[in-house]
Amino acid sequence: MDSFSRFYKKTVEERKNILKELSLYDESLDYVEDDNFFNHIIENFVTTYEVPMGVMPNLLVDGIYYHVPMATEEPSVIAGASHAAKIIERNGGFKVESINREMIGQIIFRDIINPIEFKQQVESLSENIFKVAYDAHPQIHQIGGGLKRLSVEIKSKQFVTLYLIIDTKDAMGANTINTILEAVGNFLVLETQEKVLMRILSNLAIYSLVEVSCKINVTHLKNSNEIGTLIEEASIYASIDPFRCATHNKGIMNGITALMLATGNDTRAIEASAHAYAAITGSYQPLATWRYEEGYIHGLIKIPLQVGTVGGSMNVLPKAKLARKILGVHDAKTLMKVAAALGLAQNFAALYALTTDGINKGHMKLHARSVALQAGANESNIDIVVNHLIEVGHVTLDEAIKFLNTLK
Ligand code: MEV
Repeated sequence: MDSFSRFYKKTVEERKNILKELSLYDESLDYVEDDNFFNHIIENFVTTYEVPMGVMPNLLVDGIYYHVPMATEEPSVIAGASHAAKIIERNGGFKVESINREMIGQIIFRDIINPIEFKQQVESLSENIFKVAYDAHPQIHQIGGGLKRLSVEIKSKQFVTLYLIIDTKDAMGANTINTILEAVGNFLVLETQEKVLMRILSNLAIYSLVEVSCKINVTHLKNSNEIGTLIEEASIYASIDPFRCATHNKGIMNGITALMLATGNDTRAIEASAHAYAAITGSYQPLATWRYEEGYIHGLIKIPLQVGTVGGSMNVLPKAKLARKILGVHDAKTLMKVAAALGLAQNFAALYALTTDGINKGHMKLHARSVALQAGANESNIDIVVNHLIEVGHVTLDEAIKFLNTLK
């Protein structure tokens, strides 16, 4: 019997108990730190800002079930992903097609009078660069990470850029990369007497790509004689119109960003990377695509994910630790796979809804709850207000306030 059966119908306490029984919940992590703690984390701290965190159960990836913590303020995100994940689970789940994981750093030199000569000079210093990188961060090299490759590119306007490809193991590794870049940059300035414009990691993470697929039998879906073609057309359309494609990709990131936020990852890096990669050919393209063939819808997502499972705020914020406990993932590559599968599920949920009932039907009840809360409904009357709003078909703040007044 699936422990998560009708999870969405349970009370908050019941959900916590289900997770606890599976050793996926630790109440000692479920608390809010005090102002003193947060005052050490950011400059000019004033208060904290809460976002709800939920769990999307049973994401089946390469035969393993993950229960995915998601922090999001958007009412329908977890509901949509859960629905899609269930359909895809019945079809055998998600399959990881490929994965790699290395980060990129840039040292940008400026005002180079003879770029060809400079390129050759930097290349000839390659052995020394590896040594400087090692000395800058011996620990990462000792555990098998660190600088792996380098290349030099001549850019326009007398810029020359040295790319360092760095393995940061399970950390997102911004500090590791920047430490190595600064040391190598300083070394090259001394050696070449040329000028550095900047040294910084790149968020266009083309060496941290993960590809995940799924395959859905259309007979499991409503509107089964047309749905395959409609979802394929939705995918094709996203590839020819950037206005639609931005929304298509936003839906994917609804899931991925929620997981990244819950696990204490850098959501801005993940978003920047995803959208830059979507535009890498010069034309903004969908990160997930669908095709219909002989009764099956085939989905594929290919996305860069610069994630980490150690370091940064992850080992500091109690809720990030709790999210990691729920997810049970301790290495970056597995987190990449789960995040990509979640993005594909989220995209399927959106396209399935959009090409059948439209987005409002599924959203309405959840939307009505947030409207009722805005109008001042509480635990004792929220369900009555939500039912009323749905019944009259006006999910508006005015209607909710008017109705609440009649209850008083
Ligand atoms: C809403 O947050 C996300 C969607 O607009 C995504 C999409 O249109 O594909 C539903």
